[in-house]
Amino acid sequence: MILNIASGFVLVNKMARDWLKLKMVMCFLICKPLIGIKLTIKKRQGRLQIMNKIYFDYASTTPCDPEVVKAMNPYFYEKFGNASSPHTLGRESAKALEDARGVLADFIGAQTGEIVFNSGATEGNNHAIGGIVYNRMNQGDHIIVSAIEHHSILEPIEQLVRDGFKATFLPVDGNGLVDPQAVVKAVTDKTILVAIMHASNEIGTIQPIQEVSQITKMRNIPLLVDACQTVGHIPVDVNQLGCDLLTLSAHKFYGPKGVGGLYIREGLDVAPFLLGGDQERKRRASTQNIAGIVGMAKAIEICRENMVSEKNLQTPLRDLLLEKIPQLIEGVKVNGDRINRLPNNAHFSFAGLSSESLLMSLDMQGMYASMGSACTSGAMEPSHVLQAIGVDDSLAMGALRITIGRWTTQEHIEDLLKALPKIVKSLRI
Ligand SMILES: Cc1ncc(COP(=O)(O)O)c(C=O)c1O
Repeated sequence: MILNIASGFVLVNKMARDWLKLKMVMCFLICKPLIGIKLTIKKRQGRLQIMNKIYFDYASTTPCDPEVVKAMNPYFYEKFGNASSPHTLGRESAKALEDARGVLADFIGAQTGEIVFNSGATEGNNHAIGGIVYNRMNQGDHIIVSAIEHHSILEPIEQLVRDGFKATFLPVDGNGLVDPQAVVKAVTDKTILVAIMHASNEIGTIQPIQEVSQITKMRNIPLLVDACQTVGHIPVDVNQLGCDLLTLSAHKFYGPKGVGGLYIREGLDVAPFLLGGDQERKRRASTQNIAGIVGMAKAIEICRENMVSEKNLQTPLRDLLLEKIPQLIEGVKVNGDRINRLPNNAHFSFAGLSSESLLMSLDMQGMYASMGSACTSGAMEPSHVLQAIGVDDSLAMGALRITIGRWTTQEHIEDLLKALPKIVKSLRI
C-alpha cells in the first residue's frame, strides 16, 4: 500500500514534470521569434556582440563585461558573507573588499585608505559636496562650479544656494572648456569648494584639471573632480590631476550598476554621508556590496589591460563620425572640443528636427543612441550644456550623442552613416 502510494506519487510527479517540460518547449517555440528581436548578447570570436541592435549609448551605461559577471558570481552564493562579520565567511568578504580597494586605489594613483566604496557617482558627488560644506561652513559659504556639470553636482549646489550659500557657475567657451583664469577671478576668501568635471558626459570635452588644481592648491581650496566618464577610458591619476576628491561609477566602464567610489585625499576632512555603521572607516555606513565591488575591481583590471588599445580603436571611429556626419548631412553642428575630447564621444546638433524624433527613428532601425542630456522636468528643454556653449535653442533641441565602446565595430559606424542621412531627410520634410 505504502509502496503503491509512493509509486503513484512518483508517477504523478513524473507526469507533472513532463507536462512542465512540454510547456517549457511550447513557450520557447512561441517566444523564439520574440527573443530574436530582443537585445541578445552573444560571445563571438572572444568578443561580445550585441545582436540585431547597435548600441551607441556607452556614455549612458555600458554592458557588463562577461568576465566581470564571472568574477561576481561566487559572491552571491558561496562567498556571501558580510564583510563586518568576524567568522571565516565574513573575513573572506573583508579580504575581497580590501583587495578590490587596492585595485581601485592603484588604478587612480591613490592610497587604499583614500577610497570610499559607494553606490555610484551621484552618491559620490552628493557626499563630496555635502561633506565638505558641512565641515567648512564656518570658514566660508562660496562654491565655484562649472556651468556644464552633471545634475548630481549642480542640484546639490543649487539646493545649497537656496539655503543661503553662494555659488559661481563658471562659463565655458564654445567648445565647453573652462578657462582656469576664470577660476582665479572667481575665488574669494570665502570659497570652500571648486567642482569641475574631468570630461563632459554630453559633449565629451576634457577639462584642463591640472591647471585648475594648481590654482586651488595654492589657495588651499578642495577640488572635486567628477571622473565618471573618464575612469577606465583615459588615464586618471589623482596626483597628476591634483584633485582632492574624485568620483567614479562602475557601470561606465563595463562593471555593474549601483557601485562606485569616492576618492578623498588623506587628511581632508569630509563629513560622512550615511550614518549608522562603521563601514568605510565611518565615512559611509551600510553593508558593502561585495559582489558589485568585486565586479568593479575586475572591470578595472580589464580596462587597465585594454584601455590604450580600446582608445586607439575608438578614436578613428569617433573621428569618422565627426567628419562624415556634417559632410553627409546639411545643417549639422559638431559640439565639443575636437582635440580635448573623449575617444568615444561624438555629439551633434541637427537643424530643423527634434532629438526625440531622431532617436525614435534610429531606434526603429535598431540603433540606440541618446541626446546626451536627461529630460529632468518632463517637458523638453534645451540642455544646460548646449546653452552654456552657445548653441541656440532651436539647434539644441535637435541634439544627438553617439557614444561608442568595447563592442563597437567599423560596420556599426558604416550602418549609422548609411541610415542617418535618410532618417534626417525624412524627418525634415
Ligand atoms: C558625469 C557624470 N556624473 C555623474 C553621473 C551619475 O552616475 P551614477 O549613475 O553612478 O549615479 C553620470 C552618469 O550618467 C555622469 O555621466
